[in-house]
Amino acid sequence: RYLRRTMKCRSDVNSLSHHFLLIYDSLIPPDEEKTRQKQLLSLLERLVSKEWPEARLYLYGSCANSFGVCKSDIDVCLTIQDAEIDKSEFLLKLADILQADNLQNYGFHILQALTRARVPIVKLMDPTTGISCDICINNVLAVVNTKLLRDYAQIDERLKQLAYIVKHWAKSRGVNQTYRGTLSSYAYVLMCIHFLQQRRPAILPCLQEMEPTYSVTVDDIECSYFDKVEKLCDFGSRNKETISQLVWAFFNYWAYCHDYANAVISVRSGCLISKQAKYWTRRVGNDRHLICIEDPFDTKHDLGRVVDKFSIKVLREEFERAAEIMQHDPTPWITLLEPY
Ligand code: GTP
Ligand code: MG
Repeated sequence: RYLRRTMKCRSDVNSLSHHFLLIYDSLIPPDEEKTRQKQLLSLLERLVSKEWPEARLYLYGSCANSFGVCKSDIDVCLTIQDAEIDKSEFLLKLADILQADNLQNYGFHILQALTRARVPIVKLMDPTTGISCDICINNVLAVVNTKLLRDYAQIDERLKQLAYIVKHWAKSRGVNQTYRGTLSSYAYVLMCIHFLQQRRPAILPCLQEMEPTYSVTVDDIECSYFDKVEKLCDFGSRNKETISQLVWAFFNYWAYCHDYANAVISVRSGCLISKQAKYWTRRVGNDRHLICIEDPFDTKHDLGRVVDKFSIKVLREEFERAAEIMQHDPTPWITLLEPY
């Protein structure tokens, strides 16, 4: 129905960049926030090491991947070398240890323990700073994909600008809720990376197709790519597109150009691949493949699996709304981000 209905971009598009950059600046977390997050991590490290001296803590997700807006929660992964560990039991014990009534001078508020989730977590809150924190166990793949996103972010600043605006749009429009069938922030950042790999000239390279300088094996998955990104800081300089052109083109692509029936976006290969090649043509259990976003390392994993036949409609209507606003609205930087 929509395929290839590409619009010619409005003539005043570049004059919109200034407004989008102001929004981007307003979302960047202040340095104090980063400092407070690090202090919280050190405190957790001290408390955890008393009980499990061999455990290590890593920040992952938006507090470590360069795509964190201000006032985000922090995601922490605790690693412990014990293959037999029961993650849920371990998390309940951890929650118990960190709780306010157990610590004399200090204590966290336990908000929730999601022990049956695909990735079990405990959610806790530091009462002095108000920072909330999700802790998971041995989710090393997430720590590695956090590094990949952070490395991409260093190559061209337009990635951060675009991803901040897309994430902000998704939150404002209610399409950043995996439990309601829309996409995670992680999925949106991958969509932005893939989109910038596809521009001509390309704004981002495909790091996993280059000679690897970093390699780890996690859960039998080999994760390797070129991570000397300081050597690539000129990579996108032949492409002169501005942030407003890119926001316009991003929504135009997802509204009118993406082939939802057949295509999978793949940051790993830097191009589109076919659903058929991945056997993602049929529904298996609850996993439908109505919008396909391949995880860069866990390539069996489709981040679009959460999207169902109702939420795909919501999502596509939101992409269309955004594309129309970017094309016609006199103040798109306001209308685009209006709460739903
Ligand atoms: P905000 O919290 O919304 O600012 O963004 P975030 O980057 O922290 O995203 P999110 O909370 O969606 O996910 C946190 C991290 O978990 C991501 O950065 C990934 O590293 C990891 N992650 C999230 N979803 C998946 C998933 O489906 N598969 C894998 N492998 N990792 C995921
Ligand atoms: Mg997060």
